[in-house]
Amino acid sequence: MSVGSPVVIRPERAGDEPAVRRVLDDAFAGPEEGQLVGRLRANGDVVLSLVALDDGRIVGYVAWPRLWIQTPRDQYKAIAMAPLAVDPSHQRRGIGSALTREGLARLRALGESIVFVLGDPVYYRRFGFTVEAAAGYVSSYAGAHFMALKLNEGAQSEGRVQYPAAFDAA
Ligand SMILES: CC(C)(COP(=O)(O)OP(=O)(O)OC[C@H]1O[C@@H](n2cnc3c(N)ncnc32)[C@H](O)[C@@H]1OP(=O)(O)O)[C@@H](O)C(=O)NCCC(=O)NCCS
Repeated sequence: MSVGSPVVIRPERAGDEPAVRRVLDDAFAGPEEGQLVGRLRANGDVVLSLVALDDGRIVGYVAWPRLWIQTPRDQYKAIAMAPLAVDPSHQRRGIGSALTREGLARLRALGESIVFVLGDPVYYRRFGFTVEAAAGYVSSYAGAHFMALKLNEGAQSEGRVQYPAAFDAA
């Protein structure tokens, strides 16, 4: 990050894909997350995706795909947070946090009720995600790294968390 050029966060737009792919490949040291994003985009599963720019260059990315909470009677909308990535040369400067906080604010404004994430609780609890908030849901990802954050009181409180098919091939 150069002095005097604050990082800009904005929604992803057409044409960003190659730069986003580079950030994903470099941050995760492999193609899997970039391939996942390709499948999510192709299937129309992405509710929100943001990029972080430093001096006009994309150095961070986060996607928020649609999830569903299934109950025997109904299904309810939810959101996943995946993947989150910051270019290795720009990590630990607050960019991942800025992407996360901006995304959560936008999702709240959109009326979304609950966000699930799979990751390191040490990192995600600073945004309000907890393992406890996810404990009432059934999921193949359930465990010590499966967290949730309720954005409003209307969140469905139990059921099976269904990830989109794009995650199956991951
Ligand atoms: C995780 C990631 C997005 C964080 O982005 P970032 O811009 O470096 O994060 P921030 O600068 O906002 O936050 C840095 C803080 O998070 C902590 N942190 C960073 N990565 C962490 C990790 N994997 N686990 C736990 N803590 C982590 C740092 O110690 C630092 O804490 P501090 O503020 O108490 O010093 C980035 O490191 C990354 O792209 N990693 C590779 C891809 C990845 O693992 N993505 C998450 C998948 S769940």
